Amino acid sequence: MKKYLVIGKPVDHSLSPQLHNYWIKINKINAIYDKKDIDDAELKDLIIDIKDRKINGVNVTVPYKKKIISYLDELSEEAKITESVNTIFMEEDKLIGHNTDIKGFELSVRDTNFDIKKKTILILGAGGVVPSIVYALNKMQASQIIVSNRTKEKALYLKNLFKKISIVNWGEIPNFDMIINATSVGLKENEDLKLDFSKVENKFFYDVIYNPSETNFLKSGKKFGNKTINGKMMFIYQAHLAFKIWHNVEPKINDEVIKIVS
Ligand code: ATR
Repeated sequence: MKKYLVIGKPVDHSLSPQLHNYWIKINKINAIYDKKDIDDAELKDLIIDIKDRKINGVNVTVPYKKKIISYLDELSEEAKITESVNTIFMEEDKLIGHNTDIKGFELSVRDTNFDIKKKTILILGAGGVVPSIVYALNKMQASQIIVSNRTKEKALYLKNLFKKISIVNWGEIPNFDMIINATSVGLKENEDLKLDFSKVENKFFYDVIYNPSETNFLKSGKKFGNKTINGKMMFIYQAHLAFKIWHNVEPKINDEVIKIVS
């Protein structure tokens, strides 16, 4: 039986096992997908287990998407540019790191029929997922990408990777067509970004968080007459792409799948 894993710290909240095991069952694949909370020091042993084929594929979540890179043999172009790996697999004798968050984000936006081309996008946060979002927005030809992060140095680091982005101070809300919450604020039910959106209307509010399904960020977007969407479809699409890489099967995204994540 093949074995797959999601690793992170914490990883308890991850819905990847439910989603992958559902698709494994439906597609009658002899495999199991588990989650493992690991420390930095355990990464080396994990890599040995993959090379020994005791583990056949790994999803990587916070805080290891960048740290894992030094253990891998090769990176996809997307993983290289974003310095972010969320999917690992073996190809012949090489351990490859890929990034399916990028396409996951892109497909989730395409579903909404919101056309990114020539739009101004404001991103809140500069953590692990943001390089993938910036990469996807560039690919979709956004005209301007503005990043605002509480710790400015992290936003400035991002500017080294993507020269074209602009940085504004935390708390400043410049004009935008779409705003993305890529901070972890909202994961706990009553958390709030404490930003004033009362003058923003007819824009697009995207929250990478999908659990809870409606953060205070999305609630206030909705209240002032904006279109809103959470990170549920991004999460499903990134898993879908990883599944295809590992099993060479394109699993179905149906109501049952969406229910697992809702
Ligand atoms: P990491 O920062 O380790 O990459 P992450 O979950 O990928 O972790 O990112 C968390 C993001 O949420 C960061 O942009 C963080 O801002 P800082 O860089 O200033 O830490 C942001 N964040 C977390 N708590 C926040 C808060 N109370 N207010 C504003 N931003 C917050």
